[in-house]
Amino acid sequence: MATRWGICSAGKISNDFVVALQTLPAQDHQAVAVAARDLNRAKEFAQSHDIPKAYGTYEELAKDPNIDVVYVGAIHPVHRDLVLLFFKHGKNVLCEKPMAMNLTEVKELTAAARQHNVFFMEAFWSRFFPAYEEIRSLLHQKVIGEVKVVRAEFGANLLGVPRAVEKELGGGAILDIGCYGIQFASMVFNGEKPESVTAKGFLHNTGVDETVTVILQYPGKRQAVITCTLVTELPNQAVISGTNGIIQIPSYMWSPMSLIVNGKETKYTLPPTTKHLFFNNSTGLSYEAEHVRQCLLKGLKESPIMSLMESELLASIIEEVHIQLGISKNKG
Ligand SMILES: NC(=O)c1ccc[n+]([C@@H]2O[C@H](COP(=O)([O-])OP(=O)(O)OC[C@H]3O[C@@H](n4cnc5c(N)ncnc54)[C@H](OP(=O)(O)O)[C@@H]3O)[C@@H](O)[C@H]2O)c1
Repeated sequence: MATRWGICSAGKISNDFVVALQTLPAQDHQAVAVAARDLNRAKEFAQSHDIPKAYGTYEELAKDPNIDVVYVGAIHPVHRDLVLLFFKHGKNVLCEKPMAMNLTEVKELTAAARQHNVFFMEAFWSRFFPAYEEIRSLLHQKVIGEVKVVRAEFGANLLGVPRAVEKELGGGAILDIGCYGIQFASMVFNGEKPESVTAKGFLHNTGVDETVTVILQYPGKRQAVITCTLVTELPNQAVISGTNGIIQIPSYMWSPMSLIVNGKETKYTLPPTTKHLFFNNSTGLSYEAEHVRQCLLKGLKESPIMSLMESELLASIIEEVHIQLGISKNKG
């Protein structure tokens, strides 16, 4: 039986997610309904993607009994309320990154997922790319020895994107793009809690973080350095240096199409589409969709690759960065 997806919001990433879903076999994945705040937008979205049902409120989607899992593609300030709404109606949820705005909200959501006994995952799509799977396998086999230094960066000129720079829309470099480097370091260090988090950066005139470098230090003299900026393009690569070699992840480190291990490159291809995509390599969203299907088929309530505990850890690191930059005063 196909996994029946409900799509929450008709924005850019929802578009790309549905296009990616439709690169997968129709007997495995179906987008069966979409909800937007405006019924006409939902209808337009449904029509352009051949989705049978369109709703003008998120509540109607939550109440639809013919949905296995809801994809939340709305902006992050509304993630908390939307995810709680879907949990209340017993829905499994795949929620776009960042899971929520701060650690308090993230803990509230992970606790609610457990309480409602539903599947819940933060949509760090990168983790399900073949290159990331290969990285986990290489690290497990200790091909580059013990990892000592990790570097990752995500920079682009996003100053014209309101969602990236406006505080009320959830703006800020770390929440929007720096989180990719943090999740990368966390994956490489196996979800270990860093012994220290140090952040230096600059704020934008809207009060959100604009350019930030974060240093995570781990016991045993191991370090991760993550840079993100909303101002300019960076090489957007990542590097893992071990005692016995180097793994390089060429641009884009969040959706890599090649991997260089001790100088030897492997290339990957993406599922093709002729439909419009807003973001680079977005048909790679199909990898996480298929992962969610496999988790649901196994009856899992969380992903073994992107666990709820790790989402809490990522949120705690981001919170510490916000505190050090003077953006947040609260410890969650
Ligand atoms: N995985 C990735 O590669 C990736 C890429 C980009 C973004 N993202 C994440 O996806 C989320 C959405 O990003 P996006 O670029 O798709 O954003 P977007 O197109 O600007 O907005 C997404 C949707 O947010 C909804 N929304 C709900 N309340 C809103 C409000 N008060 N003001 C404005 N919009 C509101 C709207 O839903 P309606 O349609 O119902 O009006 C809108 O269509 C973010 O959390 C972002 O971090 C992930």
